[in-house]
Amino acid sequence: MIYSKIAGTGRYLPERILTNADLEKMVDTSDEWIRTRTGIEQRHIADEEQMTSDLCVKAAQNAMDSAGVAADDIDMIFVGTTSPDLIFPNIATIIQHKMGIPACACYAVEAACSGFVYALSAADKFVRTGDAKCVLVIGAEIITKLIDWDDRSTCVLFGDGAGAVVLKPSGEPGILSTHLGADGQYQQLLYYPVGVSNNLAAAGVGDSRIMMSGNDVFKVAVKTLTAVAQEALDANDVDLDELDWLVPHQANLRIIQATAKRLKLPMEKVIQTVQIHGNTSAASIPLAFDVAVRDGRIKRGQLVLFDAFGGGFTWGAVLLRY
Ligand code: COA
Repeated sequence: MIYSKIAGTGRYLPERILTNADLEKMVDTSDEWIRTRTGIEQRHIADEEQMTSDLCVKAAQNAMDSAGVAADDIDMIFVGTTSPDLIFPNIATIIQHKMGIPACACYAVEAACSGFVYALSAADKFVRTGDAKCVLVIGAEIITKLIDWDDRSTCVLFGDGAGAVVLKPSGEPGILSTHLGADGQYQQLLYYPVGVSNNLAAAGVGDSRIMMSGNDVFKVAVKTLTAVAQEALDANDVDLDELDWLVPHQANLRIIQATAKRLKLPMEKVIQTVQIHGNTSAASIPLAFDVAVRDGRIKRGQLVLFDAFGGGFTWGAVLLRY
């Protein structure tokens, strides 16, 4: 049996940090409100000239170094993002060119904050079937370019970054199963109103901002993150106490805490980076994973569950033996 296994991880965060104190000077908010409602203390913000592909290249190189693979070894690229450099060509082709990766299939996956988990799930299938031998899977966003910096209800939440993994075939268990879902009836609760076939040309810059019903998103997020995590555990007959780490989407500390509580999982087993990264959308899970791998918490052989939720709504879980 061929499994796909994570051979290396990497991340990149833009240098510029925006603290809650900085935001206090920009909108009518307070460090205390942001911390108590979201847990967020700071977030990284890309420079004006930085492209999402630039963040990806740095995270990908970091992951390739840790996996001990070179550009020539990569035979497929998946990128989960909602903030690509251009509408086309797709961001994976841009990354391929910037990194000198030989001709290969390049996928861009748009599933909002679930983008990385969607990408990883698809990449896993290519590796398991033998169609790919060394896949770069990236979750990345410069989501702050979609922010209205006058809208205090959303501008305090988000940050930029990129996380990456290298996926290779292995005879040893790696990714055990992936579970994806979506329900388009929830579009109006979280969306970005400007697209190609609706009003790209008509929209002025000021018309475009992330639209979100925070309270409603919160409730569906907790319910869905719990359900899909449980689905992944049940599908593999894994008891909760066998799970070493939950790496959930980092949107809001209260969502993470409520999900862990519903799952009856102690917070000591939950990787948390929302405090220092904010909500980086598709980048949040690979960023959090890389942080915990590199600081030694997540070790080889441990059982890890990725748990994602985002606009659409989309969701997904991946249970893996690291
Ligand atoms: N600073 C200070 N006050 C703020 C604020 C800010 N940055 N943003 C909103 N408020 C105010 C509101 O105007 C409201 O004031 P009012 O009572 O006078 O009308 C009050 O705070 C409460 O707003 P509410 O939206 O009910 O707060 P909340 O407890 O639901 O927290 C979120 C708001 C956005 C933090 C929370 O709903 C949330 O995190 N939702 C999920 C969002 C998310 O994760 N999205 C991405 C999913 S992938």
